[in-house]
Amino acid sequence: MKHKATLCVCAAAALLTASAYIAFENNAIVLTEYEYHSDKVSQELDGFKAVHLSDVHGKRFGKENSRLVKLVEEQSPDIIVISGDLIDSRRPDPDAAYELIAKLVPIAPVYYVTGNHEERLSRELYISAMENISALGAHILDGNSEALVYNGVSVNIAGFKDSEYFTVSEARKLTSDGSFNILINHRPQYAAAYAEAGFDLTFSGHAHGGQARLPFVGGIIAPDQFFFPKYYEGLHRFAQGATVISRGLGNSFLPARINNRPEVVSVTLRKG
Ligand SMILES: [Fe+2]
Repeated sequence: MKHKATLCVCAAAALLTASAYIAFENNAIVLTEYEYHSDKVSQELDGFKAVHLSDVHGKRFGKENSRLVKLVEEQSPDIIVISGDLIDSRRPDPDAAYELIAKLVPIAPVYYVTGNHEERLSRELYISAMENISALGAHILDGNSEALVYNGVSVNIAGFKDSEYFTVSEARKLTSDGSFNILINHRPQYAAAYAEAGFDLTFSGHAHGGQARLPFVGGIIAPDQFFFPKYYEGLHRFAQGATVISRGLGNSFLPARINNRPEVVSVTLRKG
């Protein structure tokens, strides 16, 4: 009897510890900061900072996402990029997206592309969500690009929705000669092709950091890349250009992150 009671206490303690760990891993945001040095960065662009959010999946960090918004605000970004899956298709909560966008827009221009989850929403919800997000002041990039002037020089910011896979030649049409070219898209595995197309820096997510990260191994699994994905986090350089992959902030089908805390990414451009 005494042995059975001890087993019960041990099982309860293990369950509590596991629950606390999962809650920590799902809620304790981490900031990852990169400096991207490139000869494509002009003197005027040196110091330009982008904050990158991805795969929020309707999650709130504090009341009305106050913890997330505060962390973004503290970075004093020049732009905020959101690379899809802001709204989760399995449990859509568009109000969470609207709350977040409304609080981000006053901080810096917000550029947003949809992910596979937004595209799975009902047509009515998709249309109303895009209308509301646009009305709140976010720039929705859907196969187009916009020019931003920073310190007198042009930054070309392009994006497309998840279902649009652009070939190198098609993607090239969204670049702008003489500008620093940024691309936002959801899936990370095409980044090398987009770099080849002329994009200096791409931002993506989708991989959720490989869901669980093992020491010396890295991410375990990611959609479309399956086990041991190559593109699940980090800054990857190519022969020309680079890509930044966010591990994302929320969860969808798999509810727990392991050694993979929700991530806000900041990238500062540096000349040379
Ligand atoms: Fe996602």
